[in-house]
Amino acid sequence: MVNKIIETVKEAGKIILSAHNQESSITAKEGKKNFVTKYDVAVQEFLFKELGKAFPEAEFVGEEGENDFSINGLRFIIDPIDGTTNFMQDYRCSCISVALCNENDVIAGVVYNPYTNEIFSAEKGKGAYLNGERITVSERPLSDGLALFGTSPYHPENTDDTFALLRKVFDFSRDIRRSGSAAYDICMVACGRCEVFFEKGLQPWDIAAGTLIITEAGGIVSNYEGQAISFSTPNDVVFANPEAYKEFRTLL
Ligand code: IPD
Ligand code: CA
Ligand code: CA
Repeated sequence: MVNKIIETVKEAGKIILSAHNQESSITAKEGKKNFVTKYDVAVQEFLFKELGKAFPEAEFVGEEGENDFSINGLRFIIDPIDGTTNFMQDYRCSCISVALCNENDVIAGVVYNPYTNEIFSAEKGKGAYLNGERITVSERPLSDGLALFGTSPYHPENTDDTFALLRKVFDFSRDIRRSGSAAYDICMVACGRCEVFFEKGLQPWDIAAGTLIITEAGGIVSNYEGQAISFSTPNDVVFANPEAYKEFRTLL
């Protein structure tokens, strides 16, 4: 099952790699931070069409347009380009994120960074992989590790909280990093390069695939209250290795 998703996502990655004049391909804009380009739409359309042929029984929820969160049966939750601002500026750190969910479970997840040709994948109960090699979270504590964060850029009401927490995390850890793609950040924790990722107000399509990948890699996922996250509402999320998770919660 996951191999078919990987194959399709890799094909979709070619649309991202062949893009040009990304900044002039903007089709919608909300405020000065939230953009949609024709490529976001093209990648989503390609994935809906090709995955729809391979999984005719599944429904689709995607960032660009069709996001009916009342669907709860077998469904794909898709972010066609996670890191659109990076993409527009050719910063070359954006991912395709595809999760196959059933009720509250993610049963398969794929995150693909076409610029680095890294494909992160997991099937429920079968471990997590980077380009076919098994991955696990690190054993590094946050006090000796790196923390990743998102700025919650489309929700200015979160800015003060985000930067207040970031200040504490910066003091506590080795250093902090901001990639601009939440899906990639989660995978960086899943493969042990970093210890924690946190951000307020992330949407189900940002995190659904990453949630399974990091869980299968031995990591922990929760909202800021320590509860399971929801795939039908935005979430304030933390993804971490078990030791770093405990430390992070003392900073909240
Ligand atoms: C965004 C990216 C970014 C995160 C935002 C997300 P988009 O997704 O993941 O890193 O900070 O909260 O919305 O809009 O580029 O798909
Ligand atoms: Ca996103
Ligand atoms: Ca997106």
